[in-house]
Amino acid sequence: MELSHLPPEILEAQREFPAALAACADLDALMRLKGAFVGRDGSHAARLMEQLKAAPKERKKDLGATVNALKNQWEEALKLRQGELERERTRAAALAKAWDPELPPPLPPQGALHPLNRLMDRMVEVFRPLGYHVEEGPEAETESFNFDGLNIPPDHPARGSADTFFFQGQADLLLRTHTSPVQVRVLRRIGARGADGVSELERRGGIRFLAPGRVYRKDEIDPTHSPMFHQVEGMIVGKGIGMHHLKGTLSYAMKALFGPAADVRFRPSYFPFVEPGAEMDVRCPLCGGSGCRVCKGSGWVELLGAGLLHPNILTMAGIDPGIWSGFAFGMGVERTAMMVSQTPDLRLFFENDQRFLRTMGGLD
Ligand code: PHE
Repeated sequence: MELSHLPPEILEAQREFPAALAACADLDALMRLKGAFVGRDGSHAARLMEQLKAAPKERKKDLGATVNALKNQWEEALKLRQGELERERTRAAALAKAWDPELPPPLPPQGALHPLNRLMDRMVEVFRPLGYHVEEGPEAETESFNFDGLNIPPDHPARGSADTFFFQGQADLLLRTHTSPVQVRVLRRIGARGADGVSELERRGGIRFLAPGRVYRKDEIDPTHSPMFHQVEGMIVGKGIGMHHLKGTLSYAMKALFGPAADVRFRPSYFPFVEPGAEMDVRCPLCGGSGCRVCKGSGWVELLGAGLLHPNILTMAGIDPGIWSGFAFGMGVERTAMMVSQTPDLRLFFENDQRFLRTMGGLD
């Protein structure tokens, strides 16, 4: 568009047009601007039309094209801005209608238990009707409770500083590597004889408890490892407790936890504090056992270690293994949570991303 032959006041108006358009805060202001530029009388466009009429014949064609182009440009831009302002007005009207000054203000978002805590609570609820209560132990634990009292020999690899966090300057103190030291603490307490010569174990006729909690191992963080994770320990001591009790209890618990179709299997395994020892797998909930990414093609997912209490750990606590027996198990909470909710990366449970936590990590 060749503008140089237009009058200076039109050139100036054209230069200022974009800023004037943007400055229109409402439709009234826009209508005033529209009147000034393209209105029927006295507008820039109207004046240009008059000049066009008065122009010498040979200039009419060129001038006419410029005037038309300019007018079209202004009208286009005005229409666009009008659309914007109309949408804004509709939105504001809807907001004003929705706001009821008599309603109470919206509540702030509520907090909730973390998905892992909910899963541990559910474990506790599953075992409570079977007579299990909750016991706790410290996360900063002694070597004696974490290893020695569990019949773990001094040269066992897990005792090395490559696997275990030790406290600097406190030779005997470490971050517990499993919840099993709670077994030792409880066994020592219930095995000790009172002034009347009777132990808590004898007075109760047995004990059953769960010990949920945090544990620590020197692992690099990756989708399936974290230096801090959770376990739920379980233990029962009674008379005549055998492997059949262990299998029955855990099969029942897994059905209560995962639904009646939950299927389990036990494989022989070794832990120094149980004899015999076993690992328990659940049939993969993702593929139903046919083999997939989650179960690495095997159809089963390993969930816990278990076994009958080793006579040595009873003896060390002053309990006669000729009279008393029991079983224990230790379940990985993150692993269970990942399996139930089909979450492929355990870091999601620790990153505090509200979008993930609001779905309860899929554990609802
Ligand atoms: N404490 C064992 C672990 O961390 C699990 C376990 C608990 C095994 C109780 C047997 C009995 O792997």
